[in-house]
Amino acid sequence: MSTSPENEAGAHPGQRSIRSYTLRAGRITVAQRRALDELWPRFGLAFTPQPLDLYQVFGRAAPCVMEIGFGDGELLTAMAAADPATDFLGVEVHEPGVGHALLLAERLGLGNLRFIRHDAVEVLGQQLPDASLAGLNLFFPDPWPKKRHHKRRIVQPDFLRLVARKLAPGGIFHVATDWAPYAGHIEAVVAGEPAFMQPPVPPALRPRTRFERRGERLGHDVWERAWRRSTRPAG
Ligand SMILES: C[S@@+](CC[C@H](N)C(=O)[O-])C[C@H]1O[C@@H](n2cnc3c(N)ncnc32)[C@H](O)[C@@H]1O
Repeated sequence: MSTSPENEAGAHPGQRSIRSYTLRAGRITVAQRRALDELWPRFGLAFTPQPLDLYQVFGRAAPCVMEIGFGDGELLTAMAAADPATDFLGVEVHEPGVGHALLLAERLGLGNLRFIRHDAVEVLGQQLPDASLAGLNLFFPDPWPKKRHHKRRIVQPDFLRLVARKLAPGGIFHVATDWAPYAGHIEAVVAGEPAFMQPPVPPALRPRTRFERRGERLGHDVWERAWRRSTRPAG
């Protein structure tokens, strides 16, 4: 199940034309490269268009929380370390970020965390069984501030319908952004998806992320919400 992450992200051009990311040619350190080569078999899962057996992946039946776009993985690995009774699945396309997160996972000796290096929309749509997630975390998604790029924002009605389908009844969609116009867009899209109950619930406390700290240095306020998926079956 765990093959090399090489060429994973973006390896399926043409399947979806509008993506929520651009593959940056980020600088990768020697340690991150080593992590991608040596730690991937332990922590990595290849993208496959068949539904994953989460029991087989983690070797137990436990609630599973997925984080989309975990960046350098500082928050994701801290959450996994703080909550050993829950399994975590991190999905990210940025190679140096995945390398960094692998190093942290090794340092913390995490048995409850796996990574997938691929477009999270395809992972959700094709690799995650329906009603399999206790939570879906989306922290500081790319805001795509220019109007002509708004269609690249990951939060869209289709995405929200997909999230609702993959969350178990009562599961939590937790989202944060420091871009006020994106916050308004997310509120409106969630309000249009009846699978999410209103009003929102208090978001779980979490450590701050790298992007969040950067936004704070720029004077941005952080907007954060958590919505519970209703217990009615997904439509
Ligand atoms: C603005 S950064 C935030 C990173 C991190 N959550 C933080 O707060 O520091 C957004 C991240 O989402 C990732 N991303 C965007 N769209 C994605 C997708 N469809 N699948 C996987 N990762 C994605 C990007 O590569 C990027 O690392």
